[in-house]
Amino acid sequence: MILVTGGAGFIGSNFILDWLAHSEEPVINLDKLTYAGNLENLNSLKGNPRHIFVRGDIADSELVAQLLSEHRPRAILNFAAESHVDRSIHGPEAFIQTNIVGTYRLLETARAFYKDLDERAASCFRFLHVSTDEVYGSLSSGASPFTEEHKYEPNSPYSATKAASDHLVRAYYHTYGLPVLTTNCSNNYGPYHFPEKLIPLCIHNALAGRPLPIYGDGLQIRDWLYVRDHCSAIRRVLEAGKVGETYNVGGWNEMANISVVQSVCEILDELKPKENGSSYAAQITFVTDRPGHDRRYAIDAEKISTELGWQPKETFETGIRKTVQWYLDNPSWVANVTSGAYQSWVGQHYGSGLNTTARRTSPHVDT
Ligand code: NAD
Ligand code: TYD
Repeated sequence: MILVTGGAGFIGSNFILDWLAHSEEPVINLDKLTYAGNLENLNSLKGNPRHIFVRGDIADSELVAQLLSEHRPRAILNFAAESHVDRSIHGPEAFIQTNIVGTYRLLETARAFYKDLDERAASCFRFLHVSTDEVYGSLSSGASPFTEEHKYEPNSPYSATKAASDHLVRAYYHTYGLPVLTTNCSNNYGPYHFPEKLIPLCIHNALAGRPLPIYGDGLQIRDWLYVRDHCSAIRRVLEAGKVGETYNVGGWNEMANISVVQSVCEILDELKPKENGSSYAAQITFVTDRPGHDRRYAIDAEKISTELGWQPKETFETGIRKTVQWYLDNPSWVANVTSGAYQSWVGQHYGSGLNTTARRTSPHVDT
């Protein structure tokens, strides 16, 4: 089996659904269930014995060691992180704790486990670290997209902590021989995306008749990838990636924020036209820019394409249409997330603290 951390978050939950649709191999899902972790994302796995959920922190070495020795996974895939740039600007502490200290403790526990594996198990074992293109910093217009050789120049507390975690992963390979793989992916979008990030926030606000906030001039560029394409890239890197290597993952799809939001509005105008006949685009509102806002990210995905034969399946046009349709089809998920109802469920289910007695292991998602 494999151990996935952060599997109740946006990408981690998509990954688990994708994994179980492609493989018989069970998954242990270790997630702390912060505000970003939502077990409703995994409702379709209710009763599925191939999904074992454990609430806990990647920094809890005792718990992780116990999980490793009990389940003996052949791989650890680390999705767990604090992931929102704006939150990192308001309060970097949690980012340092999870992204740096948490990754360090997870690596250390993995190293102890790996050291005692027999030769056969050790040759198969992998530690795959899921990271971001934001570690490379901001590209000027006209500069070539980020390759794996690009120097690290993180500019936000979020990207600085992810960069630190990437360096630790690299160090555990070079120093201790831990068989690591790192993926650096561009901005994802798709189902189960928490509505604090640009695309789901705009879909939600548009439908609620609220402003669609665009930071600064809206001409900042991101390279958008449909989340299921990111999941297939991670599966491929786990399967065939060369130990110690990093792989950039992206969809060759650079777009200015304003164009992304306009696309969302156009699709909503078509799928759920407003009664007064006006466009959702009329709700676009320019607001104060994010401090230190990176101007442009773009991924050169040549290495993963030529070495591992990975290609994204969705274009932005097909992926964004699926995404908008998913939010229209799942109003109760959005309502529970935005009202915080899922968090009161977590409180009732696990208790408010995160200590050993509040932990719960269940062979299925029991929502
Ligand atoms: P997310 O914020 O939606 O989910 C993070 C998950 O990690 C949540 O379920 C949360 O409860 C869990 N978590 C947080 N701290 C934890 C801890 N200490 N121990 C255990 N679980 C913990 O994030 P996401 O968007 O799904 O991102 C997943 C990973 O992918 C992150 O490492 C992120 O840096 C990376 N990434 C994200 C994007 C993107 O566009 N969202 C792009 C590239 C890379
Ligand atoms: P976001 O989804 O937060 O991802 P990231 O900061 O990791 O790239 O933001 C995507 C882009 O959209 C980024 O340039 C910031 C911008 N943005 C807005 O203009 N308005 C918003 O309300 C948000 C959340 C983001």
